[in-house]
Amino acid sequence: MDVPFAAPLIAWQKQAGRHDLPWQNTRDPYRIWLSEIMLQQTQVATVIPYYTRFLASFPDVGALARAPVEAVLAHWAGLGYYARARNLHRCAQTVAAVYAENFPKSAAILAELPGIGRSTAAAIAAFSAGERVAILDGNVKRVLCRFYGIEGFPGAASVERKLWAVADALLPESDIEAYTQGLMDLGATVCTRNRPKCEHCPLATGCIARRDGRQATLPEARPRASVPTRSSQFVFITDGEQLLLTRRPDSGLWGGLLVPPEGDPETILGQLGMTALSTETLPPLKHAFTHFRLTLLPVLSRVAPGLACLEAGWQWLPLAEAADAGVPTPIRKLIRRVASAAD
Ligand code: ADE
Ligand code: SF4
Repeated sequence: MDVPFAAPLIAWQKQAGRHDLPWQNTRDPYRIWLSEIMLQQTQVATVIPYYTRFLASFPDVGALARAPVEAVLAHWAGLGYYARARNLHRCAQTVAAVYAENFPKSAAILAELPGIGRSTAAAIAAFSAGERVAILDGNVKRVLCRFYGIEGFPGAASVERKLWAVADALLPESDIEAYTQGLMDLGATVCTRNRPKCEHCPLATGCIARRDGRQATLPEARPRASVPTRSSQFVFITDGEQLLLTRRPDSGLWGGLLVPPEGDPETILGQLGMTALSTETLPPLKHAFTHFRLTLLPVLSRVAPGLACLEAGWQWLPLAEAADAGVPTPIRKLIRRVASAAD
């Protein structure tokens, strides 16, 4: 925490930050609250006309509380995330009933109201009352992860705990409004997700991501949900010239395609009334599907030439042609290997 952060950010906000957004230059917590809710998941440029129309219809929390929820939703139409509008209305009714239409300004009290999380509560308290409390929205997480080189997915509970601790420790003694707005402005205009403009950043000298060229990999992405993996044996039955394939049922994995029989080699050969002259395990092949991964375990079973296979759906194909006979991609790769192993 000894590398300068708040001071250069505050100076930059005052000189280069945004000062004329419709929800700035007021201490009215109702107006600030409304802007913060609208700005969740929505860009400033989209919000501005909605914000203006909304305030024209519902100029204070009492007016909003008394309005039918349908009227509120009608003003929200197009902004998306309609749970926000329902919570907004419920919040206004709570403020009207519990606080006699006096919108709270304390972060601790705000955080108890419907639809107001810890970071939103802090932003409203900072802007309306100058309360010294930390915000931590997605943009701020990005700035902090980059500046301090904080690893891990910022949505993970342990990383988030760390980020809140950092955000708390960074708070300046004064100028909390410019500081809070500066964090928002920096995240929105300079330390953007793609191609951050580090050359214009007031924090550039102390920034770990910039020092190490890690802007593109910090913050870390959400870990990929682990996909189930299964493995299965595929039996490549060959007499040295031909390969025995079976057509899959139309539904299911590889529906309608030709594949070698899948399962235990001895069982399969037994069912076909064949005896292997030799059996050889070939190296496994991994294949990724959308929802799972398959490790194919190929087994090469050599049988005597001239065996008939009369079962419906089975066919012998010349080894040299089998790879191009409408087989799934990983099977094609394996057939090529088998063709060279069977030589
Ligand atoms: N996003 C969230 N709060 C904001 C604010 N006060 N100004 C600009 N963008 C914001
Ligand atoms: Fe973000 Fe670059 Fe500034 Fe670091 S130097 S905080 S990466 S804009």
